[in-house]
Amino acid sequence: MAEAGTRTPGLAPWNNLEGKIVMVTGASSGIGRDLCLDLARAGCRVIAAARRTDRLRSLCEEINGSGPSQRSAVRSVAIELDVSADEPSIAASVQRACDAFGRIDGLVNNAGVRGFVCLKIYINNVVFPKQVMALELGGSNIRVNAIAPGLFRSEITAALMEKEWLNRVAEKTVPLRTYGTLDPALTSVVRFLIHDSSSYVSGNIFIVDAGVTLPGIPLFSSL
Ligand SMILES: NC(=O)c1ccc[n+]([C@@H]2O[C@H](COP(=O)([O-])OP(=O)(O)OC[C@H]3O[C@@H](n4cnc5c(N)ncnc54)[C@H](OP(=O)(O)O)[C@@H]3O)[C@@H](O)[C@H]2O)c1
Repeated sequence: MAEAGTRTPGLAPWNNLEGKIVMVTGASSGIGRDLCLDLARAGCRVIAAARRTDRLRSLCEEINGSGPSQRSAVRSVAIELDVSADEPSIAASVQRACDAFGRIDGLVNNAGVRGFVCLKIYINNVVFPKQVMALELGGSNIRVNAIAPGLFRSEITAALMEKEWLNRVAEKTVPLRTYGTLDPALTSVVRFLIHDSSSYVSGNIFIVDAGVTLPGIPLFSSL
């Protein structure tokens, strides 16, 4: 993927996210991990959260070892977080996340966590609660948007993505005839939502699926 600086900044200012501090839950694999790497490439400092801290540490090492020398040495920290844990445990993880860089500008809630008080932008992959949250948090100047992804390669989809018949499904039912790749399909939308260009955008669902949900009923009989 191109580095932030090699894109056209005038046309896509969200490709420079220098100064933003973003937390990603579910960061130890799949979509969350790739988003962490992409946000770091765009200049963000990244708080990577999940249960498997060994994976998070290796992700942070990759990010911290890859930046230009003028950037702060520590650009990513790992936070152990289990979103299914009890409230005090989650609160402790959230506090450590808030303390890591002193504030959090954006949360990509890829694994689903609640209870943040140090936040400006919230991106969820669960569609329903975000509308209520956008209403409730707007007064605190927190934007809430959801991304509804199509099919992307990750740990949970790896075996499915190997199936030969899946390509026939794409050819016959997916309007854009592809499942696309996480980068740039999802990364570009997340960058936009983190950037101040989207400061008037809240309460939206961004369906990023090559149009796969448009036909309504999959045309299995014609496959
Ligand atoms: N891939 C797709 O095509 C696709 C499409 C639509 C929606 N989604 C949704 O996108 C999200 C990410 O999916 P993925 O494909 O990237 O899956 P994945 O590769 O399995 O990653 C899931 C991530 O969530 C973390 N996680 C799971 N349970 C957790 C818990 N209790 N507390 C904290 N973190 C937890 C995992 O880390 P630890 O195990 O280390 O905690 C891992 O980092 C999921 O909600 C999935 O349903 C994915």
